[in-house]
Amino acid sequence: GGEVVPAVPAWWREAQRPRLLELAAEATPRYVYHLPTVRQQARELKSLAAVDRLHYAVKANTHPAILRALAVEGFAFECVSPGELKAVAAVVAESVPLLFTPNFAPRGDYVHALGTRATVTLDALHPLQHWGELFRGREIVLRIDLGRGLGHHEKVRTGGSGSKFGLPLDQLPLFLQLAETHGVSVRGLHAHLGSGVLDAAHWGEVYAQLASLAERIASVTFLNIGGGLGVPAHPGEAPLDIAALDRALREVKAVYPQYQLWMEPGRYLVADAGVLLTRVTQQKDKGGFRYLGVDTGMNSLIRPALYDAWHKIVNLSRLGEPATALYQVVGPICESGDVLGTDRRLPEAQEGDVILIAQAGAYGKVMSSHYNLRDEADEVVIDA
Ligand code: LLP
Repeated sequence: GGEVVPAVPAWWREAQRPRLLELAAEATPRYVYHLPTVRQQARELKSLAAVDRLHYAVKANTHPAILRALAVEGFAFECVSPGELKAVAAVVAESVPLLFTPNFAPRGDYVHALGTRATVTLDALHPLQHWGELFRGREIVLRIDLGRGLGHHEKVRTGGSGSKFGLPLDQLPLFLQLAETHGVSVRGLHAHLGSGVLDAAHWGEVYAQLASLAERIASVTFLNIGGGLGVPAHPGEAPLDIAALDRALREVKAVYPQYQLWMEPGRYLVADAGVLLTRVTQQKDKGGFRYLGVDTGMNSLIRPALYDAWHKIVNLSRLGEPATALYQVVGPICESGDVLGTDRRLPEAQEGDVILIAQAGAYGKVMSSHYNLRDEADEVVIDA
Protein backbone atom coordinates (compact mmCIF):
# COMPACT_ATOMS: atom_id res chain seq x y z
CA GLY A 1 0.00 0.00 0.00
CA GLY A 2 0.91 3.61 0.49
CA GLU A 3 1.42 6.30 -2.03
CA VAL A 4 3.87 5.55 -4.80
CA VAL A 5 6.26 8.41 -5.39
CA PRO A 6 7.44 8.66 -8.98
CA ALA A 7 11.21 8.16 -9.31
CA VAL A 8 11.49 11.45 -11.15
CA PRO A 9 9.07 14.34 -10.82
CA ALA A 10 7.96 14.96 -14.39
CA TRP A 11 10.03 17.87 -15.71
CA TRP A 12 7.51 18.59 -18.45
CA ARG A 13 4.56 19.31 -16.15
CA GLU A 14 5.27 22.83 -14.93
CA ALA A 15 8.23 24.95 -15.92
CA GLN A 16 8.85 23.40 -19.32
CA ARG A 17 5.26 23.35 -20.52
CA PRO A 18 5.22 26.72 -22.38
CA ARG A 19 8.48 25.77 -24.06
CA LEU A 20 7.14 22.40 -25.10
CA LEU A 21 4.02 24.01 -26.57
CA GLU A 22 6.28 26.35 -28.56
CA LEU A 23 8.42 23.48 -29.78
CA ALA A 24 5.29 21.60 -30.85
CA ALA A 25 3.99 24.69 -32.66
CA GLU A 26 7.16 24.62 -34.78
CA ALA A 27 6.97 20.95 -35.69
CA THR A 28 5.42 17.64 -34.75
CA PRO A 29 6.09 14.80 -34.31
CA ARG A 30 9.07 15.76 -32.23
CA TYR A 31 11.11 14.14 -29.48
CA VAL A 32 12.29 16.46 -26.71
CA TYR A 33 15.05 15.41 -24.30
CA HIS A 34 15.71 17.10 -20.96
CA LEU A 35 19.41 16.84 -20.09
CA PRO A 36 19.04 17.75 -16.38
CA THR A 37 16.90 14.63 -15.97
CA VAL A 38 19.60 12.49 -17.63
CA ARG A 39 22.18 13.94 -15.23
CA GLN A 40 19.93 13.39 -12.25
CA GLN A 41 19.49 9.73 -13.16
CA ALA A 42 23.21 9.39 -13.80
CA ARG A 43 24.02 10.77 -10.36
CA GLU A 44 21.63 8.37 -8.72
CA LEU A 45 23.44 5.44 -10.27
CA LYS A 46 26.80 6.94 -9.39
CA SER A 47 25.69 6.65 -5.77
CA LEU A 48 25.98 2.86 -6.05
CA ALA A 49 29.10 2.48 -3.93
CA ALA A 50 29.99 -1.06 -5.00
CA VAL A 51 29.96 -0.31 -8.73
CA ASP A 52 33.40 0.45 -10.16
CA ARG A 53 32.35 1.33 -13.68
CA LEU A 54 29.06 2.35 -15.27
CA HIS A 55 28.60 1.93 -19.00
CA TYR A 56 25.70 3.62 -20.71
CA ALA A 57 23.93 1.12 -23.01
CA VAL A 58 23.85 3.39 -26.04
CA LYS A 59 21.09 1.44 -27.78
CA ALA A 60 18.49 3.14 -25.59
CA ASN A 61 19.16 6.60 -27.07
CA THR A 62 22.09 7.60 -29.25
CA HIS A 63 21.56 11.37 -29.32
CA PRO A 64 25.04 12.98 -29.27
CA ALA A 65 24.06 15.50 -26.57
CA ILE A 66 23.04 12.63 -24.29
CA LEU A 67 26.26 10.72 -24.99
CA ARG A 68 28.26 13.86 -24.22
CA ALA A 69 26.34 14.57 -21.01
CA LEU A 70 26.92 11.04 -19.76
CA ALA A 71 30.60 11.15 -20.66
CA VAL A 72 30.87 14.31 -18.56
CA GLU A 73 29.21 12.40 -15.70
CA GLY A 74 32.02 9.86 -15.96
CA PHE A 75 30.15 7.11 -17.78
CA ALA A 76 31.79 4.58 -20.06
CA PHE A 77 29.75 3.19 -22.98
CA GLU A 78 28.37 -0.13 -24.12
CA CYS A 79 27.80 -0.61 -27.86
CA VAL A 80 26.34 -3.46 -29.88
CA SER A 81 27.25 -2.54 -33.46
CA PRO A 82 29.95 -0.73 -35.43
CA GLY A 83 27.42 2.07 -35.93
CA GLU A 84 27.06 2.56 -32.18
CA LEU A 85 30.84 2.43 -31.71
CA LYS A 86 31.22 5.16 -34.34
CA ALA A 87 28.46 7.30 -32.81
CA VAL A 88 30.21 7.20 -29.45
CA ALA A 89 33.70 7.72 -30.88
CA ALA A 90 32.42 10.81 -32.68
CA VAL A 91 31.51 12.61 -29.45
CA VAL A 92 33.47 11.27 -26.49
CA ALA A 93 37.18 11.48 -25.61
CA GLU A 94 39.68 8.76 -26.57
CA SER A 95 40.18 7.93 -22.91
CA VAL A 96 36.58 6.84 -22.28
CA PRO A 97 36.29 3.03 -22.05
CA LEU A 98 34.03 1.20 -24.50
CA LEU A 99 32.42 -2.20 -24.41
CA PHE A 100 31.32 -4.07 -27.50
CA THR A 101 28.58 -6.56 -26.62
CA PRO A 102 27.02 -7.83 -29.84
CA ASN A 103 24.94 -10.93 -30.44
CA PHE A 104 25.16 -13.06 -33.60
CA ALA A 105 27.22 -10.31 -35.18
CA PRO A 106 29.10 -11.00 -38.40
CA ARG A 107 32.87 -11.55 -38.32
CA GLY A 108 33.45 -8.11 -39.79
CA ASP A 109 31.89 -6.42 -36.77
CA TYR A 110 34.50 -8.02 -34.51
CA VAL A 111 37.26 -7.00 -36.90
CA HIS A 112 35.97 -3.43 -36.64
CA ALA A 113 35.64 -3.50 -32.85
CA LEU A 114 39.08 -5.04 -32.34
CA GLY A 115 40.50 -2.12 -34.28
CA THR A 116 39.05 0.27 -31.67
CA ARG A 117 39.76 0.47 -27.96
CA ALA A 118 36.56 -1.42 -27.16
CA THR A 119 36.62 -4.49 -24.95
CA VAL A 120 34.84 -7.25 -26.84
CA THR A 121 32.27 -9.57 -25.31
CA LEU A 122 31.71 -13.03 -26.79
CA ASP A 123 28.60 -15.07 -26.08
CA ALA A 124 29.06 -18.18 -28.21
CA LEU A 125 31.65 -20.78 -29.14
CA HIS A 126 31.51 -19.86 -32.82
CA PRO A 127 33.87 -16.85 -32.78
CA LEU A 128 36.65 -18.85 -31.13
CA GLN A 129 35.94 -22.00 -33.15
CA HIS A 130 35.95 -20.23 -36.51
CA TRP A 131 37.74 -16.90 -36.09
CA GLY A 132 40.24 -17.80 -33.38
CA GLU A 133 43.06 -15.91 -35.12
CA LEU A 134 41.16 -12.61 -34.64
CA PHE A 135 41.22 -12.95 -30.87
CA ARG A 136 44.76 -14.28 -30.37
CA GLY A 137 46.47 -12.46 -27.52
CA ARG A 138 43.31 -10.53 -26.71
CA GLU A 139 41.48 -9.96 -23.46
CA ILE A 140 37.76 -10.59 -23.80
CA VAL A 141 34.57 -10.74 -21.78
CA LEU A 142 32.37 -13.82 -21.74
CA ARG A 143 28.61 -13.39 -21.60
CA ILE A 144 26.94 -16.23 -19.76
CA ASP A 145 23.33 -17.38 -19.81
CA LEU A 146 22.52 -18.02 -16.18
CA GLY A 147 19.50 -20.04 -17.25
CA ARG A 148 16.75 -17.55 -16.54
CA GLY A 149 15.50 -14.28 -17.95
CA LEU A 150 13.34 -11.46 -16.72
CA GLY A 151 11.98 -8.11 -17.82
CA HIS A 152 8.87 -6.08 -18.57
CA HIS A 153 7.85 -8.26 -21.53
CA GLU A 154 8.69 -11.67 -22.91
CA LYS A 155 10.36 -10.02 -25.92
CA VAL A 156 12.95 -8.25 -23.75
CA ARG A 157 14.00 -11.24 -21.62
CA THR A 158 17.51 -12.21 -22.63
CA GLY A 159 18.22 -15.30 -20.60
CA GLY A 160 16.96 -18.84 -20.30
CA SER A 161 16.62 -21.70 -22.75
CA GLY A 162 14.29 -19.82 -25.12
CA SER A 163 16.65 -16.90 -25.57
CA LYS A 164 19.42 -16.50 -28.15
CA PHE A 165 21.77 -14.68 -25.77
CA GLY A 166 24.71 -15.86 -23.75
CA LEU A 167 26.84 -18.97 -23.51
CA PRO A 168 24.98 -21.81 -21.78
CA LEU A 169 26.82 -22.98 -18.67
CA ASP A 170 27.35 -26.49 -20.00
CA GLN A 171 29.52 -25.02 -22.80
CA LEU A 172 31.75 -23.12 -20.39
CA PRO A 173 34.48 -25.80 -20.16
CA LEU A 174 34.74 -25.98 -23.95
CA PHE A 175 34.81 -22.18 -24.25
CA LEU A 176 37.66 -21.95 -21.73
CA GLN A 177 39.56 -24.69 -23.55
CA LEU A 178 39.17 -22.86 -26.88
CA ALA A 179 40.28 -19.63 -25.23
CA GLU A 180 43.41 -21.30 -23.97
CA THR A 181 44.13 -22.88 -27.36
CA HIS A 182 43.91 -19.47 -29.05
CA GLY A 183 45.77 -17.52 -26.39
CA VAL A 184 42.66 -15.57 -25.40
CA SER A 185 42.34 -14.26 -21.86
CA VAL A 186 38.87 -14.16 -20.29
CA ARG A 187 39.11 -11.01 -18.17
CA GLY A 188 35.46 -10.51 -17.42
CA LEU A 189 32.22 -12.41 -17.01
CA HIS A 190 28.97 -10.83 -18.09
CA ALA A 191 25.26 -11.53 -17.66
CA HIS A 192 22.27 -9.45 -18.65
CA LEU A 193 18.94 -11.15 -18.02
CA GLY A 194 16.55 -8.63 -19.48
CA SER A 195 15.18 -5.12 -19.51
CA GLY A 196 12.75 -3.21 -17.34
CA VAL A 197 13.48 -4.95 -14.03
CA LEU A 198 12.12 -3.27 -10.90
CA ASP A 199 13.23 -5.87 -8.36
CA ALA A 200 16.39 -4.54 -6.69
CA ALA A 201 17.41 -7.99 -5.46
CA HIS A 202 18.04 -9.28 -8.98
CA TRP A 203 21.48 -7.75 -9.57
CA GLY A 204 22.91 -8.98 -6.29
CA GLU A 205 21.92 -12.51 -7.27
CA VAL A 206 23.53 -12.22 -10.70
CA TYR A 207 26.64 -10.70 -9.13
CA ALA A 208 26.99 -13.58 -6.64
CA GLN A 209 26.47 -16.18 -9.36
CA LEU A 210 29.04 -14.64 -11.67
CA ALA A 211 31.51 -14.26 -8.81
CA SER A 212 31.24 -17.90 -7.87
CA LEU A 213 31.82 -18.91 -11.51
CA ALA A 214 34.74 -16.50 -11.74
CA GLU A 215 36.50 -18.23 -8.88
CA ARG A 216 37.12 -21.12 -11.29
CA ILE A 217 38.70 -18.85 -13.93
CA ALA A 218 41.97 -17.34 -12.76
CA SER A 219 42.17 -14.65 -15.45
CA VAL A 220 38.89 -12.93 -14.49
CA THR A 221 39.26 -9.50 -12.89
CA PHE A 222 35.82 -7.93 -13.38
CA LEU A 223 32.16 -8.87 -13.44
CA ASN A 224 29.60 -7.07 -15.60
CA ILE A 225 26.13 -7.62 -14.18
CA GLY A 226 24.37 -5.95 -17.10
CA GLY A 227 21.70 -3.30 -17.25
CA GLY A 228 17.95 -3.73 -17.19
CA LEU A 229 17.20 -1.20 -14.45
CA GLY A 230 13.55 -0.38 -14.88
CA VAL A 231 11.52 2.76 -14.46
CA PRO A 232 7.90 2.49 -13.28
CA ALA A 233 5.57 2.83 -16.24
CA HIS A 234 2.07 1.85 -15.11
CA PRO A 235 0.41 4.04 -12.51
CA GLY A 236 0.95 2.44 -9.11
CA GLU A 237 4.17 0.65 -10.03
CA ALA A 238 6.88 1.24 -7.43
CA PRO A 239 10.22 2.62 -8.59
CA LEU A 240 13.40 0.60 -8.38
CA ASP A 241 14.79 0.90 -4.86
CA ILE A 242 18.30 2.21 -5.52
CA ALA A 243 19.24 2.13 -1.83
CA ALA A 244 18.26 -1.56 -1.65
CA LEU A 245 20.23 -2.24 -4.82
CA ASP A 246 23.23 -0.49 -3.27
CA ARG A 247 22.99 -2.64 -0.13
CA ALA A 248 22.65 -5.88 -2.09
CA LEU A 249 25.68 -5.09 -4.24
CA ARG A 250 27.78 -4.08 -1.26
CA GLU A 251 26.94 -7.35 0.48
CA VAL A 252 28.24 -9.37 -2.44
CA LYS A 253 31.28 -7.15 -2.85
CA ALA A 254 32.22 -7.81 0.77
CA VAL A 255 32.43 -11.52 -0.06
CA TYR A 256 34.24 -11.08 -3.40
CA PRO A 257 36.34 -7.92 -3.09
CA GLN A 258 38.80 -9.22 -5.68
CA TYR A 259 36.51 -8.45 -8.63
CA GLN A 260 35.72 -5.07 -10.13
CA LEU A 261 32.00 -4.55 -10.60
CA TRP A 262 30.59 -3.12 -13.84
CA MET A 263 27.04 -2.32 -14.92
CA GLU A 264 25.54 -1.21 -18.24
CA PRO A 265 22.17 0.50 -17.81
CA GLY A 266 20.34 2.17 -20.69
CA ARG A 267 16.67 2.87 -19.99
CA TYR A 268 17.14 4.11 -16.43
CA LEU A 269 19.25 7.04 -17.61
CA VAL A 270 17.09 8.31 -20.44
CA ALA A 271 13.49 7.02 -20.30
CA ASP A 272 12.01 9.81 -18.19
CA ALA A 273 14.18 12.44 -19.88
CA GLY A 274 12.33 12.14 -23.19
CA VAL A 275 8.86 12.95 -24.40
CA LEU A 276 7.26 12.62 -27.81
CA LEU A 277 5.14 15.57 -28.90
CA THR A 278 2.40 14.96 -31.42
CA ARG A 279 -0.80 16.77 -32.44
CA VAL A 280 -4.42 15.74 -32.69
CA THR A 281 -5.46 15.07 -36.29
CA GLN A 282 -9.00 13.65 -36.28
CA GLN A 283 -11.47 12.05 -33.92
CA LYS A 284 -13.89 9.24 -34.58
CA ASP A 285 -16.60 7.44 -32.61
CA LYS A 286 -16.87 3.82 -33.70
CA GLY A 287 -18.08 0.59 -32.16
CA GLY A 288 -18.46 2.12 -28.74
CA PHE A 289 -14.90 3.50 -28.78
CA ARG A 290 -13.70 7.07 -29.09
CA TYR A 291 -10.58 7.27 -31.22
CA LEU A 292 -8.24 10.19 -30.79
CA GLY A 293 -5.96 10.41 -33.82
CA VAL A 294 -2.52 11.99 -33.59
CA ASP A 295 0.05 12.78 -36.26
CA THR A 296 2.45 9.94 -35.46
CA GLY A 297 2.19 6.40 -34.18
CA MET A 298 4.12 3.16 -34.22
CA ASN A 299 6.52 4.66 -36.76
CA SER A 300 7.82 6.99 -34.02
CA LEU A 301 7.14 4.92 -30.92
CA ILE A 302 6.75 1.20 -31.48
CA ARG A 303 6.84 0.13 -27.82
CA PRO A 304 3.05 0.03 -27.26
CA ALA A 305 2.57 -2.02 -30.45
CA LEU A 306 5.51 -4.33 -29.82
CA TYR A 307 5.37 -4.89 -26.07
CA ASP A 308 2.00 -3.51 -25.02
CA ALA A 309 4.14 -0.93 -23.25
CA TRP A 310 2.25 1.70 -21.28
CA HIS A 311 3.26 5.32 -21.81
CA LYS A 312 1.54 8.12 -19.97
CA ILE A 313 -0.36 10.33 -22.41
CA VAL A 314 -1.22 13.93 -21.62
CA ASN A 315 -3.06 16.64 -23.53
CA LEU A 316 -0.50 19.37 -23.01
CA SER A 317 -2.82 22.01 -24.47
CA ARG A 318 -5.41 21.19 -21.82
CA LEU A 319 -3.37 20.33 -18.74
CA GLY A 320 -5.61 20.64 -15.69
CA GLU A 321 -8.90 20.40 -17.59
CA PRO A 322 -11.23 17.64 -16.36
CA ALA A 323 -10.54 14.26 -17.96
CA THR A 324 -14.07 13.55 -19.13
CA ALA A 325 -13.31 11.59 -22.30
CA LEU A 326 -12.19 7.98 -22.63
CA TYR A 327 -9.94 7.71 -25.68
CA GLN A 328 -8.12 5.15 -27.74
CA VAL A 329 -5.08 7.14 -28.87
CA VAL A 330 -4.05 6.05 -32.35
CA GLY A 331 -1.60 7.11 -35.04
CA PRO A 332 -1.90 7.48 -38.83
CA ILE A 333 -0.16 4.22 -39.76
CA CYS A 334 -2.02 1.61 -41.80
CA GLU A 335 -2.06 -1.13 -39.18
CA SER A 336 -4.56 -1.96 -36.47
CA GLY A 337 -1.66 -2.23 -34.05
CA ASP A 338 -0.91 1.45 -34.50
CA VAL A 339 -2.10 2.36 -31.03
CA LEU A 340 -0.21 4.58 -28.59
CA GLY A 341 -2.55 4.16 -25.65
CA THR A 342 -5.81 2.39 -24.87
CA ASP A 343 -8.62 3.55 -22.57
CA ARG A 344 -7.04 6.87 -21.61
CA ARG A 345 -8.99 9.37 -19.55
CA LEU A 346 -8.21 12.76 -21.08
CA PRO A 347 -9.91 16.13 -21.48
CA GLU A 348 -12.19 16.54 -24.52
CA ALA A 349 -9.67 17.22 -27.29
CA GLN A 350 -9.74 19.31 -30.44
CA GLU A 351 -7.85 19.12 -33.71
CA GLY A 352 -4.39 20.64 -33.24
CA ASP A 353 -4.09 19.97 -29.50
CA VAL A 354 -0.57 19.02 -28.44
CA ILE A 355 -0.38 15.52 -27.03
CA LEU A 356 2.61 14.54 -24.94
CA ILE A 357 3.70 10.93 -24.70
CA ALA A 358 5.84 10.52 -21.63
CA GLN A 359 8.81 8.31 -20.81
CA ALA A 360 9.79 8.12 -24.45
CA GLY A 361 13.49 8.87 -24.01
CA ALA A 362 14.51 5.21 -24.05
CA TYR A 363 13.92 2.95 -27.06
CA GLY A 364 11.82 5.61 -28.76
CA LYS A 365 13.60 7.43 -31.55
CA VAL A 366 16.19 4.66 -31.92
CA MET A 367 13.45 2.16 -32.82
CA SER A 368 11.52 4.47 -35.13
CA SER A 369 11.12 3.90 -38.84
CA HIS A 370 10.00 5.41 -42.14
CA TYR A 371 7.06 3.03 -42.34
CA ASN A 372 4.34 4.33 -44.69
CA LEU A 373 7.03 6.81 -45.79
CA ARG A 374 6.11 9.13 -42.97
CA ASP A 375 8.77 11.57 -41.88
CA GLU A 376 10.62 10.60 -38.72
CA ALA A 377 10.17 12.73 -35.63
CA ASP A 378 13.03 15.17 -35.15
CA GLU A 379 14.83 15.60 -31.83
CA VAL A 380 15.34 18.67 -29.67
CA VAL A 381 17.46 18.83 -26.53
CA ILE A 382 16.77 21.26 -23.73
CA ASP A 383 19.28 21.90 -21.01
CA ALA A 384 17.78 24.03 -18.27
N1 LLP B 1 23.15 -4.72 -21.77
C1 LLP B 1 22.74 -5.57 -22.71
C2 LLP B 1 23.59 -6.70 -23.07
C3 LLP B 1 21.48 -5.40 -23.31
O1 LLP B 1 21.05 -6.27 -24.21
C4 LLP B 1 20.68 -4.31 -22.93
C5 LLP B 1 19.38 -4.08 -23.54
C6 LLP B 1 21.18 -3.41 -21.96
C7 LLP B 1 22.42 -3.67 -21.40
C8 LLP B 1 20.42 -2.21 -21.51
O2 LLP B 1 19.21 -2.57 -20.94
P1 LLP B 1 18.33 -1.46 -20.19
O3 LLP B 1 19.14 -0.97 -19.02
O4 LLP B 1 18.08 -0.37 -21.16
O5 LLP B 1 17.10 -2.17 -19.81
N2 LLP B 1 13.48 -2.20 -26.77
C9 LLP B 1 13.13 -2.71 -25.46
C10 LLP B 1 14.34 -2.92 -24.59
C11 LLP B 1 15.37 -3.82 -25.24
C12 LLP B 1 16.62 -3.93 -24.43
C13 LLP B 1 17.70 -4.59 -25.21
N3 LLP B 1 18.90 -4.80 -24.48
C14 LLP B 1 12.12 -1.75 -24.82
O6 LLP B 1 11.75 -0.76 -25.45
O7 LLP B 1 11.66 -1.98 -23.72
